[in-house]
Amino acid sequence: MRTPLIAGNWKMHDTLSEARSLVTGLVEGLDAACGVEVLICPAFQLLFPMAKAIADTPIQMGAQNAHEATHGAFTGEVSVPMIAETGATQVIIGHSERRHVFGEKGDQLNKKVRAVVSGGLTAIYCVGETLEEREAGKTKDVVRRQMDEVVGSDVPADKLVIAYEPVWAIGTGKTATPQQAQEVHAFLRGQLAEIYDATTAETIRILYGGSVKPGNAADLMGQSDIDGALVGGASLVAADFLAIIAAAAAAVPAS
Ligand code: 13P
Repeated sequence: MRTPLIAGNWKMHDTLSEARSLVTGLVEGLDAACGVEVLICPAFQLLFPMAKAIADTPIQMGAQNAHEATHGAFTGEVSVPMIAETGATQVIIGHSERRHVFGEKGDQLNKKVRAVVSGGLTAIYCVGETLEEREAGKTKDVVRRQMDEVVGSDVPADKLVIAYEPVWAIGTGKTATPQQAQEVHAFLRGQLAEIYDATTAETIRILYGGSVKPGNAADLMGQSDIDGALVGGASLVAADFLAIIAAAAAAVPAS
């Protein structure tokens, strides 16, 4: 019912030549009829050339962040209309690196998500707990608060994707078990049902992120509330990203 989405968050990786060769590998290996939506999220300066590289392919493109204002004296920032002009259709908001390295907080992320959807793009809003919070049994409290701070019924459900990324699993090689991830995803879907309604909550994709690799993707994608992945390191290697896409395709029930 929900089309899986496999999104590659390239973070601050890849020069133009590296990005071109990565996308060439993806385009060559991608089965366009696999039933999975595929998204790449390159660094800002790559958006225009990558839009050209993926033209006439099913691959979609997103940005990794956006400023909440449309324009102004904000040195070093990039706005949603600027991102939209490149052909990007989605923006990651509230990634744990934005929260923990750059100090972004709920009120600002609330504005950013609204700026993204007002600009006609889809927001991929990230939530997730630290190791300390998980060990203190606070995972659900943390993700509930992060959702409450930002997600409201004024955000169109068809312009929203949620990504659950436990901070302790990002770039560490430690993945949440499929059961740990499913438990949080089901909890988040319950919260979406409270914010919207149960039917709408069933339409919103919830991605898992945190050390997703070809070897663990199938088990994660097989969980009923895991609708795809937000992939960091493995999205920089075409063969690995393609294998994750294939695992998501294999998890789609035959119609
Ligand atoms: P890794 O897949 O490298 O753990 O990164 C996950 C992530 O942060 C995706 O946004």
